[in-house]
Amino acid sequence: MSITRKQAENIASVLSEGLPYIRKFQNKTIVIKYGGAAMTDELLKTNFTRDIALMKLVGMKPVIVHGGGPQIGAELSKAGIESKFIDGLRVTTKSTMKIVKKILGLQINKEIVKLINRSGGSAVSFNYKNSGIIKASKKINERSLDLGQVGKVEKILTIDLKNSLKKGLIPVIAPIGKSKKDGHLNINADEVAGEIAKSLSAEKLILLTDVSGIKDSDNKLISKISLNQGKKMLKEEFIKGGMNPKLKAVLEAKEAGVKSCHIIDGRVPHAVLLEVLTEEGVGTMIS
Ligand SMILES: Nc1ncnc2c1ncn2[C@@H]1O[C@H](COP(=O)(O)OP(=O)(O)OP(=O)(O)O)[C@@H](O)[C@H]1O
Ligand SMILES: [Mg+2]
Repeated sequence: MSITRKQAENIASVLSEGLPYIRKFQNKTIVIKYGGAAMTDELLKTNFTRDIALMKLVGMKPVIVHGGGPQIGAELSKAGIESKFIDGLRVTTKSTMKIVKKILGLQINKEIVKLINRSGGSAVSFNYKNSGIIKASKKINERSLDLGQVGKVEKILTIDLKNSLKKGLIPVIAPIGKSKKDGHLNINADEVAGEIAKSLSAEKLILLTDVSGIKDSDNKLISKISLNQGKKMLKEEFIKGGMNPKLKAVLEAKEAGVKSCHIIDGRVPHAVLLEVLTEEGVGTMIS
């Protein structure tokens, strides 16, 4: 692939500008929730997995937690099952859970591992079959509505994760938890990413999504919020659906000491690298 002089200059300037950040994040754990558009578009997908391999190569410790809303939705509609959400969480019946396990718990997980490995990284799969790192219990909805097989994180068992990081591997985690009483439970991936970031005392938490970040009631991007503003915002009408667990996750992680927490636009090519290596933010930052 030949590139123009202008492109070469851009690459050189990003690398040069990125140097202080590469140094700053040496050996630091960065948890990234991969979901939304960046996960369904082929080019964005290749960009993303290559960027993760690059982050590892320059000394950072990326940890991936993935979602899979669109893919689960597509498989459910093929099976004639309707998707239903309450407060941004997928109502998960026993038959929905079968599909969640197959698509979210295995298929998507294995594909991300394969793509990272193809880019020269060494990824390791933490899927619902081979790992039990997410201890969970059934989630009780705030309005006592039954969500079915939906879980909340009780505890993250970090031993295997930490060992993988020590070996230079990139963990790729499917957001399915296990409860002694209720078996496998479907957990919102943003929530899992937040809990993983807390349990590993991560430096950074980045949630990729399919919008430009948190938008206000006029649909304008909010580029920075404080912890207190964020807490008040949770009660606002304009925080709906999937943005609910996202905002909760970044606020909880921030409060627990994860230094920088971001919700960024996965539709922007190389969004994660831009976030990590440049001054400009690409979304909403909790400051
Ligand atoms: N105030 C808000 N600002 C921005 N987006 C919002 C807001 N309120 C609700 N949303 C919705 O939240 C959605 C993002 O959450 P969603 O759960 O759909 O995707 P995701 O979490 O990125 O992917 P996945 O659930 O597949 O992991 C946006 O597409 C948008 O429709
Ligand atoms: Mg979501």
